[in-house]
Amino acid sequence: MNRTPWIIGAALCAAVFTTPAAADEMAPNAGALMKRAQGVFAPLPKEVANPENPITDSKVTLGRNLYYDPRLSKNRDVSCNSCHALDKFGVDGEATSPGHRGQRGERNSPTVYNAALHVAQFWDGRAADVEAQAKGPVLNPIEMAMASEEQVVAVLKSIPGYGRLFSQAFPDAKDPITYDNMARAIGAFERRLLTPSRFDAFLGGDASALETAELEGLEAFLGVGCTACHSGVGIGGGSYQKLGLIKPFATKDVGRATVTGNDLERFFFKVPSLRNIAETGPYFHDGSVGSLDEAVRLMGRHQLGVELSDAQVGKLIAFLGSLTGVVDVEYTAKPVLPASGPSTPAADPS
Ligand code: HEC
Ligand code: HEC
Repeated sequence: MNRTPWIIGAALCAAVFTTPAAADEMAPNAGALMKRAQGVFAPLPKEVANPENPITDSKVTLGRNLYYDPRLSKNRDVSCNSCHALDKFGVDGEATSPGHRGQRGERNSPTVYNAALHVAQFWDGRAADVEAQAKGPVLNPIEMAMASEEQVVAVLKSIPGYGRLFSQAFPDAKDPITYDNMARAIGAFERRLLTPSRFDAFLGGDASALETAELEGLEAFLGVGCTACHSGVGIGGGSYQKLGLIKPFATKDVGRATVTGNDLERFFFKVPSLRNIAETGPYFHDGSVGSLDEAVRLMGRHQLGVELSDAQVGKLIAFLGSLTGVVDVEYTAKPVLPASGPSTPAADPS
């Protein structure tokens, strides 16, 4: 028996009666994509624990104060928040950031949100964790420009309110105001600077959390190979990779090779996390890339050896938008800083 007419009939019926559904069939299958994504990424935890620096509420409170305190800078005008503004997704929107006397370094300020998840800190990974990282900027001559650890401790001891905050944060310490404890408190504060996004809801099992365009973007992200580097809980932040892996990328910054002394690691950088990426431009280690569109095209060209089509770039950007998270505005609000004492040094613009 010849069944062809039946098949044609069925096909015609489908075409006539199910046009809207047919459009849906073209859309990615959210459930199948979710399974694939769950194998590559992970949702955010509530905090990033460090057994060597347990997170306590009093440590976090102290850390929040220190994070916002410009008295940790020579001219009392630069705080961590100057370059990593917590109400601007942890960045300042500049290619490179002005520090002491407006001086600028060579590198772009990455966001502090979700940074505690990373394999290490800085574009070249030269600090092991957020606690080690926090010791750097305060003494960096072009950032906060304090003269020495001792000077920082003297300033902290001159501010009466910090005595209480440090003893509450470090109840077992005989002399709690130390440079290391300053860094531990800031680190503890940063370990809860996490921004859950709709993509986390999707990874957690909510198939409706992403819109069709974002699902298409996720499919493209998995399909073209971005996940070779941008994977895990940070959608990046977990490894070092060569910038210009397939096609050399012109930059004078050799990145990780400076830290390890290994020539094979020239132009290696920590793969950045793509969480909140739509909000944290300009992009790349030197802030030289102004738009996300351009950043995505350069990634295709230099990291994967493909010229992405406009349609692909559009989809990828739609997906990246779903990684914009929610900032806990209560947690990140600027506190009323403890008042200076009679011996707290004046601003020094030199
Ligand atoms: C003058 C601007 C400036 C100030 C002030 C500043 N930072 Fe940064 N921060 C930067 C820049 C630039 C980098 C990247 C430098 C590099 O990779 O070599 C950075 C990197 C970081 C990172 C690493 C993030 C990552 O993804 O690797 C963290 C965390 C961080 N800063 C926290 C802080 C804290 C905490 C303070 C205050 C104690 C602070 N910063 C003060 C500019 C600044
Ligand atoms: C071979 C590894 C690798 C692949 C594949 C890769 N990236 Fe990257 N990506 C990196 C590295 C390394 C950087 C840091 C560049 C720098 O240091 O200037 C980066 C930076 C970025 C940035 C800028 C981040 C920032 O904070 O400035 C975006 C956006 C980005 N990648 C998206 C993508 C997309 C989308 C794809 C797929 C089309 C992709 N990447 C594929 C390694 C990779």
